[in-house]
Amino acid sequence: MSILEVKGVSKYFGGLAAIDNLNLTIREGEIRGIIGPNGAGKTTLFNVISGVYRPSSGQIFYKAGKRIDGLAASKIAEMGLVRTFQRTALYPNFSVLKNVTAARHLHARENIFSVFAGAVKKIEEVNIKKALEIVEFMGLGHLKNELATNLPHGHQRALGVAIALACEPKVLLLDEPLTGMTPTEKAQMIDLIRKVHQQGITILIVEHDMRSVMELCKYISVLDFGKLLVEGTPAEIQNDESVITAYLGTEDITSLGGEKVAT
Ligand SMILES: Nc1ncnc2c1ncn2[C@@H]1O[C@H](COP(=O)(O)OP(=O)(O)OP(=O)(O)O)[C@@H](O)[C@H]1O
Ligand SMILES: [Mg+2]
Repeated sequence: MSILEVKGVSKYFGGLAAIDNLNLTIREGEIRGIIGPNGAGKTTLFNVISGVYRPSSGQIFYKAGKRIDGLAASKIAEMGLVRTFQRTALYPNFSVLKNVTAARHLHARENIFSVFAGAVKKIEEVNIKKALEIVEFMGLGHLKNELATNLPHGHQRALGVAIALACEPKVLLLDEPLTGMTPTEKAQMIDLIRKVHQQGITILIVEHDMRSVMELCKYISVLDFGKLLVEGTPAEIQNDESVITAYLGTEDITSLGGEKVAT
């Protein structure tokens, strides 16, 4: 069963089609890899799915045919479609726990009736308890009182995912979660992504680290110039001529299994 359907979506910036008549179907419960050379439109795709941008044309359906294109990003997040950012977006001078609690505040609709009922303190207690669970789940329990800005890069990224989890996603969009990580940090993040997936969360991951994408995903969609170039299993993608051509001259070609050519 599909949980997300992108139908004929385009997004123009001036005359440039960052996304060009794209069709994509994501099954409930999968981890889908989205790859493609720099500027292929991967981040733009996440931005149109999550409501940061309204598509120039086309439609996006979420869960049993609910149309979401054109809805506000906050509304889409509330429905369970949540993204992390390519560059980690955090409150640097808040503690780890406070970052996640704050994300829950932004997400939870603390309606006026519960305020009248004097339930504010109760809501706050529940928020902190849930935030703490998420922080521990992401392996950050020992760092809960540390300021976000003081965390090593790998833990900052884990916090970025914790902040997204605070919104209780059904679908999580991860934009380059492994960028700038050491091999150890990467291995830890891959384990965490698997753990999140095991909670029943559908995951879309944009990532340049081919080895990791191929390890995590059973199915991969390749974008090039805003279009869907090809979709398939890691083995199919690795051996696809059009994918190899699209990547020629980029750093990523070596990890696709091809020869890196001098540019
Ligand atoms: N806000 C914007 N205004 C104008 N052009 C944009 C904007 N955002 C993206 N673009 C352009 O759209 C194209 C796709 O960009 P996008 O960031 O989606 O690529 P990407 O696949 O995420 O690349 P990378 O792998 O480098 O992150 C690029 O040509 C980019 O310059
Ligand atoms: Mg990008």
